[in-house]
Amino acid sequence: MKLLVTGGAGFIGGNFIHYMQRAHPGYEIICIDALTYAGNMETLGGALSHPGFRFVKGDVADREAVFALFESERPDIVVNFAAESHVDRSIDSPDVFLRTNIMGTGALLDASRQYPVRRFHQVSTDEVYGDLPLDRPDLFFTEETPLHTSSPYSASKAAADLLAQSYFRTFGLPVTISRCSNNYGPYQFPEKLIPLMFVNALAGKPLPVYGKGENVRDWLYVEDHCEAIDLILHKGRDGEVYNIGGHNERTNLEVVKAILAELGKDESLISYVTDRLGHDLRYAIDPRKIGEELGWAPHTAFEEGIRRTIRWYKDNRAWWEDIMTGAYLEFYAKNYGGR
Ligand code: NAD
Ligand code: TYD
Repeated sequence: MKLLVTGGAGFIGGNFIHYMQRAHPGYEIICIDALTYAGNMETLGGALSHPGFRFVKGDVADREAVFALFESERPDIVVNFAAESHVDRSIDSPDVFLRTNIMGTGALLDASRQYPVRRFHQVSTDEVYGDLPLDRPDLFFTEETPLHTSSPYSASKAAADLLAQSYFRTFGLPVTISRCSNNYGPYQFPEKLIPLMFVNALAGKPLPVYGKGENVRDWLYVEDHCEAIDLILHKGRDGEVYNIGGHNERTNLEVVKAILAELGKDESLISYVTDRLGHDLRYAIDPRKIGEELGWAPHTAFEEGIRRTIRWYKDNRAWWEDIMTGAYLEFYAKNYGGR
């Protein structure tokens, strides 16, 4: 079996490659990644020397490069993680989100038609459903919830989902889509809530909580997400969407306080800053379909996952210190300078 994994030098794609090499050591894995600010070869580490692994530096929106790769590699399965993934960056500059997330997915879908694959898996997000109100804890996103996006990021991901579904309906391409809730764990770039708060707290810097910190996210340990995708690749039904989440809802303030408690740092580090524009209130997944159809259930409780994640960041300082480059610090100064 030969897998093409796009965006594998990023957070979830990198974890997925490590996971698949453990779960299916005989599989060939080709990773294509443009190595944007979010991509890092250090994330792949030991995966690089695994037999059957190849890395190709390339842009999924470069159709010529994508078709050449399919021509030479002829993958059986495509798993598309490659994306611009940070909501705040999409508010700042939407263009690159349209290019990578929509045009990139389009190029991969076309190549998958020309060089037929057994499965095209689109890694999507629960953010395509928009948000839920804070005062209706009885509501959850199901696969039937209408797409109703809030940010340029989620709009670009929804466009990619619709395109992928259209390739199933129109061309019979064996597409599956997963929509997962917020992930956390090793190798997450420190612009996202959990690693950013950890890195700041460790340095004794203020922790910038947007608004009142009351927004709710449904957190899933990254390895549980990888296992769900593995199941969908092998047992999922063509044309289907699977929501992935583990009923681990927390307000942002609860998450930040848990990190401070784990580090033994004072809550006075919390700094309330201007809210994100269009900030989604609550995400919450109903994961019954993937549980009932594919037997998936998450293994890692939030408290355990946070402990493991913090231990990983403490033990792998070089990984995150090295990527705190000038470019990232510039973005950070621009994003928080005026708040
Ligand atoms: P990430 O930003 O950490 O990694 C994205 C990777 O894609 C990077 O390695 C980057 O170099 C690569 N990339 C970007 N543009 C590219 C291009 N044009 N061509 C090739 N490679 C390119 O993102 P992540 O958090 O690992 O998310 C991966 C996928 O999972 C995304 O599609 C995202 O929408 C989805 N997702 C993320 C979460 C989450 O909580 N992080 C939750 C649900 C779904
Ligand atoms: P983030 O990790 O960017 O993921 P997403 O926006 O895709 O859910 O943010 C998670 C939550 O944390 C979101 O409600 C915004 C909030 N947040 C802060 O309060 N401060 C921050 O510095 C960041 C990056 C996020």
